[in-house]
Amino acid sequence: MLRWLRRRICQRCFFLLRRIGVVAFFCGLGTICLLASIICLVYTFRSQLFDSLIKCSDKESNIYIDDFCQLYRQGEITGSLCHPLCQTGQVKFSACTNFHGGKQVQMMKCNDFCQQGRTISSALKSPNHNISRILSDHPGLLPTDAESSNFKNYMNEALRERVRLELGFDPIPPDTDVLKLMWEEDYEQFLGTSENRTAAYRTIMMLMEQTEYLLGKVLYGSGVVPRLYGTCGPLYLQESCPPGLLDRYIISVARTTPAPVSWQQEASTGIKLLKLIKQLEEDFPQVLHSCDVKGSNFGVCDDGSVRIIDADNLFFHKQMMDIFNRSTCKTHSDCNFFDCGGWCYVDSGTCWKGITNNNLQTMCRDVLKHPYMGLFNWGEMLSDAPASIAGKLSAAVEECVSSHTSEENGIPVNKPPLSVLAKIMQLLMQSAIGEEVL
Ligand SMILES: Nc1ncnc2c1ncn2[C@@H]1O[C@H](COP(=O)(O)OP(=O)(O)O)[C@@H](O)[C@H]1O
Ligand SMILES: *[C@@H]1O[C@H](CO)[C@@H](O)[C@H](O)[C@H]1NC(C)=O
Ligand SMILES: *[C@@H]1O[C@H](CO)[C@@H](O)[C@H](O)[C@H]1NC(C)=O
Ligand SMILES: *[C@@H]1O[C@H](CO)[C@@H](O)[C@H](O)[C@H]1NC(C)=O
Ligand SMILES: [Mg+2]
Repeated sequence: MLRWLRRRICQRCFFLLRRIGVVAFFCGLGTICLLASIICLVYTFRSQLFDSLIKCSDKESNIYIDDFCQLYRQGEITGSLCHPLCQTGQVKFSACTNFHGGKQVQMMKCNDFCQQGRTISSALKSPNHNISRILSDHPGLLPTDAESSNFKNYMNEALRERVRLELGFDPIPPDTDVLKLMWEEDYEQFLGTSENRTAAYRTIMMLMEQTEYLLGKVLYGSGVVPRLYGTCGPLYLQESCPPGLLDRYIISVARTTPAPVSWQQEASTGIKLLKLIKQLEEDFPQVLHSCDVKGSNFGVCDDGSVRIIDADNLFFHKQMMDIFNRSTCKTHSDCNFFDCGGWCYVDSGTCWKGITNNNLQTMCRDVLKHPYMGLFNWGEMLSDAPASIAGKLSAAVEECVSSHTSEENGIPVNKPPLSVLAKIMQLLMQSAIGEEVL
């Protein structure tokens, strides 16, 4: 434990100082060296401090889950996950990952429910609900025209409308069983009595309030977001896709020293991330903008696919434009929406109804190149990339981060074309294959 801690401190400090490039320099000067050590210590223990202050505990998580199981036993919520989670113990808590303030995210062992006959890891997610208010906030009052025989028809229309409102367009093909698409494959079994329908209605409404759930369903099958296994009230169980490789230098949730990774692994993850970006640009009726781009929001699933695990800040183009349309500004940065760039008409104090960067640019800037958490460890000047491609790769990523052009109206934009993506991908493929041969 101690050795591990010491190694971790050394790694972190050395890493940091080398980044600043002043190791030798500092240590010649006594006081500054002391200061640097203190900063390093705080920096190093930051994660432990952070964890104990804001990380959820196992006990808390179990209580949270039990509270929902209580609601299930009272018949107030429903869904295919309730039985294995609350009755048979097939879905069992294994670890808590999130920090207070965000969503609730618990890692669960899933035995013979997520996949037949297998035990796999999965993630249980929900917004942080105040249980004591949940029934009064969600009375589950069905409109009278939704009673019994009409329930399905009513829900089909209501859910389609909800999706249309959220996304600004209706991506669901006509003649779709919307209840099946947006909730559960086998939903009929939960609609038997009028009490059951109240529980179902409450459950569906609480799920549909969650952007990530709604998008997870709409984008189902595209491979962009994790698979969904089941729901119980507002809780939904998702395929496990831990950030792992993409999350090496930020607060370590697992508290393990990052395992050494080969260039081949890094290159392969980079290739998959770039493919994901291409999908966001090309695979949907509108471009899907990712406005919260950082390593911990992407994960590597069991099948090796790389997916977006935090879908709260994904917006279709029209939604994105609505956000810019609603914003007012004094400076250009007032128009930025997280990582999605905006531009201010300073005279009128309104934002341009356009975006000044794209998914590729933020991916290059905040994940591939980031000075502290870059996938390719950029601060170390590509120490990981084979010498044969290091120079070219660095140049290509630099081009991706800072290629400047302007729109027809003269507004400066930072939108590297997909040819830049292809160039980086090509280099990564070459180098990964090269490594394999060696
Ligand atoms: N599907 C998943 N598989 C594995 N870990 C996950 C998954 N979803 C979330 N996590 C973990 O929980 C953390 C927080 O989840 P996230 O959806 O990003 O919540 P928030 O909106 O609070 O940022 C992630 O950084 C990751 O460590
Ligand atoms: C939950 O709601 C109850 C009732 O409104 C309130 O008294 C309590 O402070 C809330 N708890 C939290 C943690 O917000
Ligand atoms: C339906 O409701 C009855 C009580 O009316 C309850 O006993 C039963 O467990 C419910 N079924 C489901 C699938 O929730
Ligand atoms: C911007 O919002 C106004 C009303 O607030 C609306 O009339 C206009 O069509 C919107 N423009 C775009 C591009 O969405
Ligand atoms: Mg997140």
